[in-house]
Amino acid sequence: MVGGAILLALSTAAVLGAVAAGGGPGCRCRPREPCWPSAQAWQGLNRSVDGALVGLKPFSFPCHDPNFDAAACDSVRLQSNGSIWRASNPGGVQWENWDALPAENQTCYVHSARGIPCRQGRVPVYAVLARRADHVQEAVRFAAKNNIKLVIKNSGHDFLGRSAGRDSLQISTYRLKNIAFTDNFVTKGPHGREVSHGAAVHVGGGVGLRELYNAVGERNLVVVAGLSHTVAAAGGYVQGGGHSPLGAWKGMGSDNALEFEVVSAEGKLVIANDQQNSDLFWALRGGGGGTFGVVTRVTLRTWPDVPIQRTVYGIEVPRQYESVFWAALADFHHHLVVLNDAGGAGYYDIKPSPLNATAPLALSGILQFANRTDTAAIQALCKPLQAAWNATLAGAPGAWSYFVADKLHNSTHDMFNEYLPKDRDTLGGTVILTSRLVSRELLSTQEGAVRLSDTLSRLKRSPSRVITGHVVAGGPPAGAIRQQGSGGEDATGLTPAWRRTLTHLTAGQGWDPAVATWEEQRAIMDSVTNGDGALLRALEPDMGAYLNEADVNEPNFQQAFWGSHYPRLLRVKQRWDPRGLFIVKSGVGSEGWDADGLCRLK
Ligand SMILES: Cc1cc2nc3c(=O)[nH]c(=O)nc-3n(C[C@H](O)[C@H](O)[C@H](O)COP(=O)(O)OP(=O)(O)OC[C@H]3O[C@@H](n4cnc5c(N)ncnc54)[C@H](O)[C@@H]3O)c2cc1C
Ligand SMILES: *[C@@H]1O[C@H](CO)[C@@H](O)[C@H](O)[C@H]1NC(C)=O
Ligand SMILES: *[C@@H]1O[C@H](CO)[C@@H](O)[C@H](O)[C@H]1NC(C)=O
Ligand SMILES: *[C@@H]1O[C@H](CO)[C@@H](O)[C@H](O)[C@H]1NC(C)=O
Ligand SMILES: *[C@@H]1O[C@H](CO)[C@@H](O)[C@H](O)[C@H]1NC(C)=O
Ligand SMILES: *[C@@H]1O[C@H](CO)[C@@H](O)[C@H](O)[C@H]1NC(C)=O
Ligand SMILES: *[C@@H]1O[C@H](CO)[C@@H](O)[C@H](O)[C@H]1NC(C)=O
Ligand SMILES: *[C@@H]1O[C@H](CO)[C@@H](O)[C@H](O)[C@H]1NC(C)=O
Repeated sequence: MVGGAILLALSTAAVLGAVAAGGGPGCRCRPREPCWPSAQAWQGLNRSVDGALVGLKPFSFPCHDPNFDAAACDSVRLQSNGSIWRASNPGGVQWENWDALPAENQTCYVHSARGIPCRQGRVPVYAVLARRADHVQEAVRFAAKNNIKLVIKNSGHDFLGRSAGRDSLQISTYRLKNIAFTDNFVTKGPHGREVSHGAAVHVGGGVGLRELYNAVGERNLVVVAGLSHTVAAAGGYVQGGGHSPLGAWKGMGSDNALEFEVVSAEGKLVIANDQQNSDLFWALRGGGGGTFGVVTRVTLRTWPDVPIQRTVYGIEVPRQYESVFWAALADFHHHLVVLNDAGGAGYYDIKPSPLNATAPLALSGILQFANRTDTAAIQALCKPLQAAWNATLAGAPGAWSYFVADKLHNSTHDMFNEYLPKDRDTLGGTVILTSRLVSRELLSTQEGAVRLSDTLSRLKRSPSRVITGHVVAGGPPAGAIRQQGSGGEDATGLTPAWRRTLTHLTAGQGWDPAVATWEEQRAIMDSVTNGDGALLRALEPDMGAYLNEADVNEPNFQQAFWGSHYPRLLRVKQRWDPRGLFIVKSGVGSEGWDADGLCRLK
């Protein structure tokens, strides 16, 4: 029953795609249609953006006949596992599944056979490689005037494929690299009123997190941002909420955004902050990327850098004692409430189906406490969980656990240097994720934690399966917001569910694009949405998912991604983009459009 839903949705999308190919009212103009701009018109755009327009082919074009070029292909293959190369190259994104349209055999995979022709798929037709905000304005005006589908690509990390799109014009914000600091950022109200926000950094639309951490670290400052080299601070990251290992200390990335400079759907360069265009400012903090305008700069609060205490922990249980493993995992999730209330944050991996028959079931993770140097006090905080594990694991000979305060970093900068080493930055491949935000309330009872273990034990098993937990919210900042009641939760567009979240769980599946058939890919997507996804949703139907690390086919995405904030977000969307220039799949206002964002639904 449920399994049929996604197949139906996919075949509907295919039919709509076919309708769009013929053009028609309510559709974007596509290549080879009479409405498509002439070569001369494109050259006009090119001149207005100082020659920054490029025609695009998938970057693996030289790896396929009849254009196979051994040297060029080798060079692509060597570089294509690097995320910086993928971010800077407009002919693709980070995940190969989003460059392709496998349902129509439009693929150009890096490692598929040379004899399979290279086809454009979801790689845009042209890109404007913007170096200044006015380049973005020109591109937006051109797309609006000519009714062309727009795609905004920054780093191209998006797990939902929202930075790629067939038959589109891409605006690449990757080259907007300015970074500037201020000791006291001031916003100005309509009657000369000034509000001081303290120290801040202005971050260009394309600045990657590693670049930002380098710049703030040199000044002994820190910003709240995520754990990746190339994810863009001002892009989908902060606009979708932005979680951070520092989130339990200073809130979400979006809570730390003070101002956005945005190119609107009208092509105007506007400022959105607490004093000006405050509805847009509200929506850009959690409403999602690619939806309200093109952000050319974000201003983020900076904090003095601080030491950070790291603890590593884990359990290993021989596989014949599986029930003991799930019980110990419940102990962990229940005790996480106290640890997170004290500011503990970090990541963990659950491995319920290890690669070989002798390997144990395992949990391993890190917990960090920002601005804490009192190692003994933190160790004391961890004792009750260790005692619970000792008792639970006693039932499984050969099982063991560890919990070690292994490192006191002298700064968060030192920590980011360790987690984001300059020489290791591997990406590529395919993945489809499902996400679930799990509440502090559920895990505050042992019964709730046992229910979570029970759910996780029923997710699809396969060798190398990893379920990842992100303890990136909650802590004192969320506690303060919860105590203010709805006023605090409603201060930004972010789903209120994040303020109640103790852990964000993701479970992904991938495939080998060179081997898997479309039917096999569809079956995997179906199992993510209607298998694992359905089990996770049933746990707490009123919570939600993290829109940046979620399933693009999440049912009822409006509720899942934004909860009670959706109607207000939709009003802001309609005010700032009444004609629907900025449409991304499962984004605010996308329900009126087909899956490719090419035709309005009747
Ligand atoms: C390795 C890795 C690590 C990650 N780590 C974290 C983490 O620690 N915390 C976290 O919260 N998330 C993390 N993410 C998820 C990340 O937040 C999302 O992938 C996000 O979409 C990336 O934003 P981007 O702009 O860099 O990517 P893109 O794929 O370029 O863009 C994402 C979306 O935002 C839109 N967009 C991009 N730039 C702009 C702009 N300037 N103006 C308007 N719209 C724009 C795009 O159109 C698209 O819809 C991680 C992802 C990966 C792959
Ligand atoms: C745009 O102009 C630049 C510089 O004149 C040129 O190199 C580039 O090929 C042009 N782009 C297209 C798509 O023609
Ligand atoms: C990509 O793979 C090559 C060869 O396998 C390796 O040398 C290189 O370090 C990898 N690059 C990244 C960024 O992981
Ligand atoms: C796609 O290509 C495969 C072989 O490469 C073929 O078997 C299949 O019929 C094609 N599908 C479509 C929809 O064209
Ligand atoms: C099984 O996996 C473990 C690690 O998970 C590894 O140490 C061990 O060598 C593997 N055993 C075999 C037989 O492959
Ligand atoms: C770190 O903790 C100290 C002592 O409690 C406090 O004075 C300081 O403000 C904290 N730093 C930040 C950036 O929160
Ligand atoms: C748990 O067991 C280990 C090993 O027996 C022991 O060293 C440790 O003190 C115990 N911890 C607690 C909190 O009971
Ligand atoms: C912090 O620690 C790193 C190594 O972990 C070291 O290189 C650096 O010099 C230290 N900085 C200070 C200010 O002590």
